[in-house]
Amino acid sequence: PSIPISIEIDQEAAAQKLKIGVYFATWWALNVVFNIYNKKVLNAFPFPWLTSTLSLAAGSVIMLVSWATRIAEAPETDVQFWKTLFPVALAHTIGHVAATVSMSKVAVSFTHIIKSGEPAFSVLVSRFLMGETFPMPVYLSLLPIIGGCALSAATELNFNLTGFMGAMVSNLAFVFRNIFSKRGMMKGKSVGGMNYYACLSMLSLLILTPFAIAVEGPQLWAVGWQNAVSQIGPNFIWWVVAQSVFYHLYNQVSYMSLNEISPLTFSIGNTMKRISVIVASIIIFQTPLQPINALGAAIAISGTFLYSQAKQ
Ligand code: 3PG
Repeated sequence: PSIPISIEIDQEAAAQKLKIGVYFATWWALNVVFNIYNKKVLNAFPFPWLTSTLSLAAGSVIMLVSWATRIAEAPETDVQFWKTLFPVALAHTIGHVAATVSMSKVAVSFTHIIKSGEPAFSVLVSRFLMGETFPMPVYLSLLPIIGGCALSAATELNFNLTGFMGAMVSNLAFVFRNIFSKRGMMKGKSVGGMNYYACLSMLSLLILTPFAIAVEGPQLWAVGWQNAVSQIGPNFIWWVVAQSVFYHLYNQVSYMSLNEISPLTFSIGNTMKRISVIVASIIIFQTPLQPINALGAAIAISGTFLYSQAKQ
């Protein structure tokens, strides 16, 4: 009688693996498309504050329409939920706009190489600001992460300080986003991955809009838009739509998969996502890359795998 039970367990495990595989493949594919269109838009229309705002706006509209038409069920939220979401949304907004500013200044691959250093920020913040300690192998895994990112940055052909700092600020902000969202999940109403990300987009949109207007503003946007349309043609609008919609979709899928997997599996998936983006963007944008630069990226990425193992 034990044989059918074990077959059932095997089938369940296989189905779960398949489901996670599908989530991951979708997440990476959507992310690659977002990164390509985002950079194409930024090359012709260098207004990262507006494009970041539009990404959040697209997500908010998609979700409001989905709720209104009952394609998705609207979440039940309370004041406590929005209060605990606020710091998460603030960190999400900062991390998002900083990464987009970075990508407007440097190659997409370079931004993502620096962003592969996020685990190092996570350990340093947890250690020095939260007083959490880690086993020695975790600290040791930071050496290749930090060393690899530093090597890549030092040998980057088109290094730009704003681009570098943007990616670093994004890393720091996303570490806080993760810490705040973990804390928030203990309090208030619980909301599933898709709706949690929808609420996060809406609150972030409210936070970001006044800053985008203050930093760039409608006058610059209007001139920039005309330039972009005269350079690219009327299809430019579809590039903007693509970058905005795909930003929402990849994040939505990643938050949905968070419900299904451990944070460890998630962070391995995230690192593999960066590899797909780095490789795809180097090919598509024909980014010049020195071997030493690629070596730095490979060391940093191997470090994030070692970190995942050490954390386990
Ligand atoms: C953004 O614009 O928010 C960043 O590109 C997102 O970075 P991620 O790859 O960590 O989601």
